[in-house]
Amino acid sequence: MSNKTDHYAVIGNPIAHSKSPDIHARFAAQTQQDLDYERLLAPLDGFVATVQKFIRNGGKGLNVTVPFKLEAYALATTLSERARAAGAVNTLKFDGNTMLGDNTDGVGLVTDIVRNAGVAVANKSVLLLGAGGAARGVILPLLNEKPAKLVIANRTHSKAVDLVNRFAPHPRLEVSDFAVLDDAFDIVINATAASLASEVPPISPRVFAKHTLAYDMMYGAAPTPFMQFATQHGAIARDGLGMLVEQAAESFYLWRGVRPETAAVFAELRDQL
Ligand code: ATR
Repeated sequence: MSNKTDHYAVIGNPIAHSKSPDIHARFAAQTQQDLDYERLLAPLDGFVATVQKFIRNGGKGLNVTVPFKLEAYALATTLSERARAAGAVNTLKFDGNTMLGDNTDGVGLVTDIVRNAGVAVANKSVLLLGAGGAARGVILPLLNEKPAKLVIANRTHSKAVDLVNRFAPHPRLEVSDFAVLDDAFDIVINATAASLASEVPPISPRVFAKHTLAYDMMYGAAPTPFMQFATQHGAIARDGLGMLVEQAAESFYLWRGVRPETAAVFAELRDQL
């Protein structure tokens, strides 16, 4: 590394499990970018101080993960439209006194579905399960693909209503209730935290048809409970590993202006799970 090496990191708490350094090291080697990328553990009450120290030491950009995405949103001096819509920032870019806040999670999901899984979102019916930060982050990028409809449903129905009300009225954006969902969708996306508790959102299996893509934003060595449930009912299941790699690629592009290839990195990560 030369003294011109640019510094990046992923900041969170906890952070030891993060795969981002591995992904970005592969992107940097592949595109011959002179950068390093580390894990940055911030105290729960010390996000801003940790970011400021990182900038003082010459840091150029950060990925932001749990639990700091809202603090990063508040800290940014400029926000992208998709960060504004998400209400959260997962990517910071530092340039002089400017801190640009972006959110690449939604475009990561859309790229993984459309390009990697080969499933168009345009003119399709899409069901998004969940009403927390993960769901909010992907609504605008999904709507930008012009689905026939995007239905938001959540275990606590009122939260789905609140989430949809954050967005300007949109002809394709609807809210529904777990209890009344009864028709098949082309794409069903699990943005709930249910898989963390080895649970499946209590939805009717009739949301799945043979052609349905059932996408879990979570990933692991084995299919998640949601993926198993979807497969048992005939759907095609996919986990969120590709979303992880694609959101990283979009952050890398924001920082470096170069788009890395993701297929080989995805395959290597899959092998390591
Ligand atoms: P995140 O930022 O990851 O979205 P969050 O804001 O805590 O996390 O939101 C978690 C989401 O997962 C919520 O939509 C939650 O539903 P409720 O609003 O009803 O709590 C959903 N969730 C968590 N566990 C679930 C489960 N076992 N079944 C269905 N939904 C679940």
